[in-house]
Amino acid sequence: MERPAAPAAPHHRAETRLTVTSPEQMRELGRRLAALLRAGDLVMLTGELGAGKTTLTRGLGEGLGVRGAVTSPTFVIARVHPSLGDGPPLVHVDAYRLSGGLDEMEDLDLDVSLSDSVIVVEWGEGKVEELTEDRLHVVIHRAVGDTTDEVRHVTLAGLGERWSGAALDALSG
Ligand SMILES: Nc1ncnc2c1ncn2[C@@H]1O[C@H](COP(=O)(O)OP(=O)(O)O)[C@@H](O)[C@H]1O
Ligand SMILES: [Mg+2]
Repeated sequence: MERPAAPAAPHHRAETRLTVTSPEQMRELGRRLAALLRAGDLVMLTGELGAGKTTLTRGLGEGLGVRGAVTSPTFVIARVHPSLGDGPPLVHVDAYRLSGGLDEMEDLDLDVSLSDSVIVVEWGEGKVEELTEDRLHVVIHRAVGDTTDEVRHVTLAGLGERWSGAALDALSG
């Protein structure tokens, strides 16, 4: 019996899953991920409060070699961390307070062009996808109901041509 044809995937999708067992390891993952990133990349972080989104971004900032401590952007919508060298700036966005989505992002007057930056967005689902077809989704899960466990399951899914190679495989090795 023939199975119905699967609908054409709108995007190429590359996926890597890893388990992280401490905040230090999450930071290290951020540093390693930074080595894969370049100007124009959009990284969307998903996970409940305390999952480790900002911890990962801290490592990203270290890996990118940007100025300023990466902290939770809760009281600002976006913070720009310029490169200390000649790499791209890191734009760290808390989309939780971004009601208008993309238009509001562009109205922020960030003093940097988003296409020249690495953009990391917390709580961005349904709001910033229009920024680019190519994006990296990072989903962080912690064990439900366990408040002391430091284990986190991380899924990195690269969408679009940008991530069509085997780049993400470097993270699981
Ligand atoms: N494996 C882990 N990865 C990341 N953070 C962890 C881990 N285990 C424990 N933590 C703790 O969980 C908290 C994560 O906070 P944060 O990175 O601000 O989360 P979020 O930005 O997702 O709300 C920190 O206090 C961190 O020390
Ligand atoms: Mg956070």
